[in-house]
Formats: sequence, C-alpha cells, structure tokens
Amino acid sequence: MERKDFLRSLGAGAAFALTFPCLQGCSKDEANGQIVPEPTGIDFTIDLKSEEAEPLANNGGFIRKNLVVVVRDLQGNFVAASQVCSHEQYDTVTYVDNDEGFFYCDTHGSKFGLDGTPLNQVDSKTPRQLKTFKTELSGDILRVFE
Ligand code: FES
Repeated sequence: MERKDFLRSLGAGAAFALTFPCLQGCSKDEANGQIVPEPTGIDFTIDLKSEEAEPLANNGGFIRKNLVVVVRDLQGNFVAASQVCSHEQYDTVTYVDNDEGFFYCDTHGSKFGLDGTPLNQVDSKTPRQLKTFKTELSGDILRVFE
C-alpha cells in the first residue's frame, strides 16, 4: 500500500494529524535552545580589546560566554545574567536593548530586568528570579563572577 493510499484509508482527520503533527502545542519541541543546568562557579574574564568583546564596545551590546549573557547596558554599565532561563532551563536568554533594556528568553517569552527580576508571566506563572553575576572592570579586563 502506498503512503497516500494508507493516509486515505485512515480518514481525513488522522491523515492530517500524521502529516501536520505540530500545528498545536509543539513549541517546546521546536525550541532552538537546549535544556541545560544553570551555570555555577562562574569566574572568567573578557579582554575588552579582543575580537570576542567587540559587541561590548557600544552601549546596548552583548555577548554570550560560558552560558552567561554579558551586557553593556544603555547607560554603559556592565551587567551579566544566566543564559539559562529560570523558567524551564533552556539556554535561550538574550539581551534586548528596547525600553530600558532587559533580558529575554524567546523559548516561551520570559522577560527579566537587568537585576534578574521577572517582568512577566509565562503559563500564568511568574518565573523565578534569573540568576545574575557580578562584574568588575580593571583597565580593559572585565571580570564576571559570582
Ligand atoms: S525556558 Fe525561557 S521562557 Fe521558558
């Protein structure tokens, strides 16, 4: 039996379900990121003159390193937070330079202030605080640590 004959034999509803299985409720399976543990023991440096740090040369720029989102906020301050979301631990947190600037996870839409405070609800619940890290600038070396 060929595939189209098989699908026809199942009826239109079943054929549709087999052909388009993810039209509803598959967003978690389609997430770009991965579920990983929240970073711990963070202590690293970034040479602000290095190529990797180029996005940090301007206010509103950010990089991701060691599962940490390191940001130069719109006032020029360095802040850092976990790239692993506090909602369901996808490593999809990024920085958005709209409004006052905030951390955002596009897996389910959680939004956090620069201090990690949750700013919205996801699935009718407020996510936990997003883990943040300290930063310390010494010359051109930025230290990110707990
Ligand atoms: S894992 Fe980030 S919003 Fe759900």
